[in-house]
Formats: sequence, structure tokens, C-alpha cells
Amino acid sequence: MKKIPLEGYHVLIAVKDLRDFLQLLESEGELARIDIPLSRDLEIAEVTSRVSKGPKELNKALLFEKVKGSNIPVLTNLFGNEKRMALALRVGSLQELSQRLEALVKVLPPRGFKDLFALGGFLKNILRPFFPKPSFLEKAPCHQIVKVGKEATLEGIPVLRSWPKDGGYFITLPQVVTLDPRTGRRNVGMYRLQVVDERTLLVHWQRHKDAARHQLEAQRLCLKEIPCAVVLGGDPAAIWAASVPLPYGLDEYLLAAWLKGGPLEMTRCITQPLEVPARSEIVIEGFIDLKDLRPEGPFGDHTGYYTPQELFPTLHITAVTMREEPLYPATVVGIPPMEDYWLGKATERLFLPLIRFVLPEVVDVHMPPEGVFHNLVLVSIKKHYPGQARKVIFGLWGLGLMSLAKAIVVVDDEVDLDNLSEVAWYVLGNVDWKRDVVIVEGPLDQLDHASPEACFGGKIGIDATRKLPEEGHRRPWPEKVSMAPEVKDKIDVLWPEILKALKPS
Ligand SMILES: Cc1cc2nc3c(=O)[nH]c(=O)nc-3n(C[C@H](O)[C@H](O)[C@H](O)COP(=O)(O)O)c2cc1C
Repeated sequence: MKKIPLEGYHVLIAVKDLRDFLQLLESEGELARIDIPLSRDLEIAEVTSRVSKGPKELNKALLFEKVKGSNIPVLTNLFGNEKRMALALRVGSLQELSQRLEALVKVLPPRGFKDLFALGGFLKNILRPFFPKPSFLEKAPCHQIVKVGKEATLEGIPVLRSWPKDGGYFITLPQVVTLDPRTGRRNVGMYRLQVVDERTLLVHWQRHKDAARHQLEAQRLCLKEIPCAVVLGGDPAAIWAASVPLPYGLDEYLLAAWLKGGPLEMTRCITQPLEVPARSEIVIEGFIDLKDLRPEGPFGDHTGYYTPQELFPTLHITAVTMREEPLYPATVVGIPPMEDYWLGKATERLFLPLIRFVLPEVVDVHMPPEGVFHNLVLVSIKKHYPGQARKVIFGLWGLGLMSLAKAIVVVDDEVDLDNLSEVAWYVLGNVDWKRDVVIVEGPLDQLDHASPEACFGGKIGIDATRKLPEEGHRRPWPEKVSMAPEVKDKIDVLWPEILKALKPS
């Protein structure tokens, strides 16, 4: 495999699918092969959990080569650090995602040939997947093994159970493909699926998610079922894209194609009117029975708590197709930080330019792992006028899945959001708890367990910015202590000698 190292984590390489990505990870020292026989029932999850929370140098993607009772190896912790996440998305650092999208947002609307050229390149990349080469469809690797009819079962696929009180075995890293029943537009979402039996799954798409809207639209049209495909593996960018909350109607595979810099090779499903990436490892085809809802869960979730049982629709399997010697990718979630933090971090970086497009005063956003995405959003802004932090708080509550944020904390642009100690110091010192807090009721994440009602409850916005007189602050705002520059310069020169005194050899 030819590899050209570029800046940061970026290496120029033709990664087409999960297998190429594994090869890349292995050559980068980011993959550990485990050939000790382990059970898919809790044991693989325990190893993954220890590795993802352990020391950085041991945090690797894990390939479990000997899974008891299955010939299919299990892959976990694929995206479990910044380097692997960046390699998967072909960027030098996750920050590069912001820069790439920012460059695009800047050319809107185009103001000349240069802008049009940049825009044209972008559109070409994302539109190409819609025109797969017909010859390719006949030879899709994911159709090397095809099981239909009575043969179409989950037998042999090493679906994991992660926590002792889980209600069963769950597919945890899927790309769930459905279509809007009115427009036919595709959505790809990462929604876990619980195994009911060898031919039946339960799909956990929460109320605010795009596929749940497909379900609702289908019910409005009095349809009894909708087609669905569960894709496992394929391009690493496509796996991640399924977890990105793109606006309704936008196909997540376009996002993956943009990052890949070319088309995702697609193929038609055998038994459903859907298209899926041809280089996937395993594809489970079926239909969602809109009348057949059953209790799903409990599941040890990424909040660190068990999500209790709730009704979700069933997926009846009509075909299972796979590559020869397939791999089974999975993730293990639990008390943070775990792998899902990095999937979310990439999304946070990608969305920053879009947030800035709507709220230009925003400098940075950070969702620390302790907040499991929806519990805490930290924002820094360049403030010019009174009430601007509140404008940002309410503006964010109006943007896509940000509407589910339970706490939004706004600070001035000088604060480094990645430094939680600095954020805490700044917020605690700069807030008047009577004046600077807004508490409202609104939509909450379905996984929130603290609100009295599911999906609805109290949310807090904290304005920890420096206050202006018009905001009711009549006293002078104090200056932050800092050393005189000439003294700093002098001590910089003397520092090597001082270090010698501090660290005598
Ligand atoms: C590892 C992982 C597991 C997830 N599991 C679920 C899930 O079971 N149900 C769900 O609604 N969202 C889940 N999510 C979040 C969705 O993938 C995310 O909200 C995505 O935007 C959904 O796609 P959509 O915007 O097309 O609805 C998960 C995210 C990750 C990273």
C-alpha cells in the first residue's frame, strides 16, 4: 500500500473500504489484533471498555480474531482517538473539517469564477455517487454471499451484548438506510438495533431523528411497511456520516463522498428498493413493520446509564448479504469517555462553520465528554452588544439537534474551551446567578432521564460573558491579572538557567 505522509495525521492513500482502513491503521500502529478466544457476550465489551478508557498509548482499534461461536472477526474502537478519526475522514486533524467547510461556506454566494470553480468541485464530488457505473453493480463485493428467503438470518454474525443488564444483543455501529416515503430521498442514520430473533430486529430511532420522521410520514400515508437496509462496514467516512445530524433531506452518503473526494461505489439491494455502498462488509435487508412495535432495551447507553425499555418498530429481515470472510464492526458505549466522543467531536468540528454562518459572533464550540453531547455545550463568542450571549443561546436552541442541548454556557472569546478548568474559573467568577441565567422548557434528548417527562423539560442557558452597562452592570468590570510583557521577555531568556535549578542533573 502506497502511503504519502502529509501534515498532521493525514496520509494520502486510496482507502476504499474498511479493509483498506484496517491496513492503514495497522501500518500506523493503531490496530491491535487479539487472538485470544473471547465471547461476544460481555467479554469483548469489557476489553474494549478498558482499552478505550486506558492509557493513550494502549488506545488502539481492536480486531478480535477469535470470537467464540462465530467465524466472523469483531472490530471495535475503530474511531477511538483523534488520529484514527482523522485518518478515517482523510483529514490532517479534526480541525481541518472546520477549515474545509469554512472555505466552502465562504464562496456562498459565488462572487466570480474562482468561487464557482471551488463550488463546482464540491458539487462534482458529492453528485458522482448518484451515477454509479452499471458494470460495477454486477460485481458488488457485499454480494459475494447472498442469503434470501429462509436462509436470510443473522446466524453466525457476532452481534455483541455490552452490559450485564442489557436486554439482549445489539448491533451498535450500523448505517441504517431508509427513504422518505413522499420524496424518495435517502437518509442514513446510526441507530442501534436489538436482536429479537434470527430474522427480526428492533430499530431504536429516537423521536427527533430523520428515520423516525420517515416512519411518521409513512403512517400518515397509511403504509404498512417501509424498506430498510442495515449496512455494516464500508468506507470509514460513511460509517461516521451515519452519526452526523445533517438537515432533514440531505443524504449522509454525500457527506462521505465529499470527504472521500469521489463517489462511494453503490449497489442495489437484492430484495428492497434501496441502494447501499457496494464495499460494505455485511448488509441486512428488510422492511419495517409500522404496526409491529415492541419493547426495546434496556441498553447500557452512552450516557453511562441503562436506557429503559420503550416501544420501537420491528425490522423483518428479507436478505442478508456479505463479503467473503466478512468483518463485523461494533462500538461499545458506556460511562464517558468512550469511542462515541470522537465520532461526536468530528461532527462538532464539521458543524462549527455552519453555526458561525448563522451566528457569526461564535468563535468556538466544545461539547466535553462529561456532557455526553446533549447535556452541555460550551460556546465562546466575540461580544459587541448587550444581550448577545442570550441571542446565541436561543439561536443554538433553534438549530437542528442543538435544540436538545440541556445546558449552554457562553463565555468570551479569550477562553480556551478545551481547558475545562479555565472554563470553570471563568464562568464561576463572571456569573451573577440571578441576572445571567435563563431557564426555559423545551425539547430534550430522548435519553435524558432527569426531566419529569420524556423528551420535554427544563434547560439552562448561562451567560458568563463580560457584562456591559446596558445589561444592568453599573460597576466597572475588573481587569484580568497578567504579567508585564518586558518582565516575561526577561524571564524567558533566564528560563533555561532557572530550569537547571529546578531540575538539577
Ligand atoms: C455510536 C452511536 C450510537 C448511536 N445510537 C443511536 C440510537 O440508537 N438511536 C438514535 O436515535 N440515535 C443514535 N445515535 C445518534 C444518531 O446517530 C445521530 O443523531 C444521527 O444524526 C442520526 O441520524 P439522522 O440525523 O439522519 O436521524 C448514535 C450515535 C452514535 C455515535
